[in-house]
Amino acid sequence: GRVLLAYSGGLDTSCILKWLLEQGYEVMAYIANLGQEEDFDAAREKALKVGATKVFVEDLREEFVKELVFPSVQANAIYENVYLLGTSLARPIIARKQIEIAKRENCTHVAHGCTGKGNDQVRFELAYLALAPSIKIIAPWRLSEFYTRFPGRQDLIKYAVEKGIPVSQTPSKPWSCDDNLYHISYEAGMLEDPNVSPQKDMWRLTVDPEDAPDRPEFIDITFTKGIPTRVQNTADNTDISQPLDLFIYLNSAACRNGIGRIDIVENRFIGIKSRGCYETPAGTILRVSHLDIEGLVLDREVRAYRDEHVSLQYGKVLYNGLYFSPEGQLLKNIISLTQEHVNGVVRLKLYKGNVIVLGRYSTTENLYDMEESSMDVQGGFEPKDSEGFIKIQSIRLKKHGNSFI
Ligand code: ARG
Ligand code: SIN
Repeated sequence: GRVLLAYSGGLDTSCILKWLLEQGYEVMAYIANLGQEEDFDAAREKALKVGATKVFVEDLREEFVKELVFPSVQANAIYENVYLLGTSLARPIIARKQIEIAKRENCTHVAHGCTGKGNDQVRFELAYLALAPSIKIIAPWRLSEFYTRFPGRQDLIKYAVEKGIPVSQTPSKPWSCDDNLYHISYEAGMLEDPNVSPQKDMWRLTVDPEDAPDRPEFIDITFTKGIPTRVQNTADNTDISQPLDLFIYLNSAACRNGIGRIDIVENRFIGIKSRGCYETPAGTILRVSHLDIEGLVLDREVRAYRDEHVSLQYGKVLYNGLYFSPEGQLLKNIISLTQEHVNGVVRLKLYKGNVIVLGRYSTTENLYDMEESSMDVQGGFEPKDSEGFIKIQSIRLKKHGNSFI
C-alpha cells in the first residue's frame, strides 16, 4: 500500500516514516504549515532523505485563521472555562488537507504520530473517517510491534542513528510542545506533576508579565459580524485589515506585553486528566474584546441562547474532534447567525499580562441608548412602569418568603 504520513520533521515521525518503509509501504510525507516554528525546507529534505517518495508542504495558515480561529472567537468557545482550544482548532484543517492529498495521490492509507492516550488521535481519525470513510489508518503508537520496539526516546534515537536519520543536536526539552499560529501547548515530562511549576524559560511566545514594558500599549479592534476586521495602533502606525496580518500583529502585541499564559489540568476526551500549559496571545486579546463588544450590541436573549446552547457545546465539539459532524456544522451556522449585529470598535490597553478595556462604540448598531440608560435623563422610559414589573415578578416569591427566615 501507499501511505500519506502527517510528518512534522521531528524524531518521532522520522522514525515512523522509516519504520513504515521497513513494513513494506510506499510512504509520502505531508507537512502542514499552520504557523508553527519550523524550517519547512529542512523538513522536506529530511523526509526525502529518510525515503519518502514525495513530500507535500502546505501553507494552511489563512484557512486556519478564517475557518477555525475566527468562528471560535465569534462563539467565545472555550474548554472547561480556560482552554482556548489551540490544538483542537488546528486538527480539522490538517486532517482535511491530508485526506485531499491522499485521495489525489491514490494512497490507501494515512498515518499520524499521535500517542494512544491523547485527544489528537481521536481528532485526526474522526476527521479522516468523516471525510474518507474507507481510508485505512495507521497509528504506530498504538501498535504493539511498534511501541514494544521503541519503549523510550533513547530507543528512537538509537534507531535513527542506525538508519542514518539526522538527529537534531539541540537537546530535547523535558516536555512536549505543539505550536501553531494560534497557540503553543506544553505537556508531559516534568509537567506531569501538576504541582511542579514550569521553569521560566519554558514559555516560548510571551515575555514574562513581570518583564513586560512599564509603558502600556493602546490598540483599537474593529469587529464586523463578530470577526476582527481592523486593528489600529497609532503609536506604531499600525492599521491592518488583512485577516492573517491582523492576527499576526495581535500575536506580537500580546507576546511583548506578556498576555495569554495559562497553566491547567484538563479532562481529555478519553477520560484521562492531563496537565498542560498554554500560550494563546492574540486569542486572549480577541476573547476579551469580542465579549466586550457583544455587551454593547448583542440582544440579551440572543446572547443568552448562544451562551447556554452554543459556546459550551461548540468548545466540546472542537475538543472532542467532532468538527466534521452534523452538530459541528449546525453549531457553526448558528454562531454566524448570532453575530449579524456584532459590529463595533473596542479600545484596549495592553499592560503586563492584562487586556484592559478602555471603551467601545458602534456606528451602526443602536441597542444601547444613552438617554434610556441614563440616570439623569428620563429618555422615554416611565419609571412608574417598573413598579408593576416588580409587583408581577414577586407574585410567586411571596408564597415562599417565610421559608427563608
Ligand atoms: N491538551 C491539548 C489538547 O488536547 C493539547 C494537545 C497537544 N498535542 C500534542 N500533540 N502535543 O488540545
Ligand atoms: C498525544 O497524545 O499525541 C498528544 C496529546 C493529546 O493528543 O492529547
